[in-house]
Amino acid sequence: MKELMRAPFMVEMIRIVTNMYDHGWDERNGGNVSVLLDENEWKEYLPAVHALRVISTGFAAPELEGKCFLVTGTGKYFRNVQYAPDVNLGIVRLRDGGRNAELLWGFSDGGSFTSEFPAHMMSHAARRKVDPKNRVVMHCHPANLLAMTYVHSLDERAFTRTLWQMCTECIIVFPDGVNVLPWMLCGTNEIGEATARKMETARLVVWAQHGIYAAGRDLDETFGLIETAEKAAEIYLKIAHLPLVNTISDEALHQLEVRFGVKAREGWLAPELRSGPDVRGEAK
Ligand code: 13P
Ligand code: ZN
Repeated sequence: MKELMRAPFMVEMIRIVTNMYDHGWDERNGGNVSVLLDENEWKEYLPAVHALRVISTGFAAPELEGKCFLVTGTGKYFRNVQYAPDVNLGIVRLRDGGRNAELLWGFSDGGSFTSEFPAHMMSHAARRKVDPKNRVVMHCHPANLLAMTYVHSLDERAFTRTLWQMCTECIIVFPDGVNVLPWMLCGTNEIGEATARKMETARLVVWAQHGIYAAGRDLDETFGLIETAEKAAEIYLKIAHLPLVNTISDEALHQLEVRFGVKAREGWLAPELRSGPDVRGEAK
């Protein structure tokens, strides 16, 4: 049997959550990550596997029946994952239409998966309908995006346009834009369902006054999505109180679309390619 700690998915997960902590996105137990594991891959590491425990999920997810996830634990600190992966991470397999999860490995102190498991599983189900290669859902509390939700309009088009205007790369990295949920109680099925609905049209979903969700095909790509949006939010906060002299025009954003072969969210660039600043978040 291959050693689980050497599995690429395990090495990557430990590396990425450590990186997230180092970026300051995951204070204390803030944030959570789940990765859908490839069946052929995880079985090489856990061949004669049996359920250590069965944990109720509190929701149904029939699309994910039988699927296996590597997921962070509730109340666990990302900075500790590298020192005790078996305590802070778990591998679970969904059964009974997603109503129960078999613990196959990890959470060795008796712990459980993240309290945001509904948002993760529902987002996986939603994203896989759009992109069957989606495997990762990531949540964290990056300071600049979070701060932006206090001072910027939460209108999704306006919020996205501001981010696109802050760094040239943004429209290339997230042409589908950023969806936004108003403040809601976290850790509930309701916020899970609302997040999954938002995931149908974008890979980034901001939770106002809380943090961000991202979805992607692998950990690097998903991390990069958050990193790019967070950088743009940082630039916004550096300039928002200053008189605006220049910006990236819609004309320029359109040139980026063409040059890099991406399609901006329908209707989110001015149809006649109006240029000019709207950095205060006023939708054009
Ligand atoms: P967990 O410790 O349950 O993962 O919760 C952290 C968090 O960020 C809640 O939104
Ligand atoms: Zn959170």
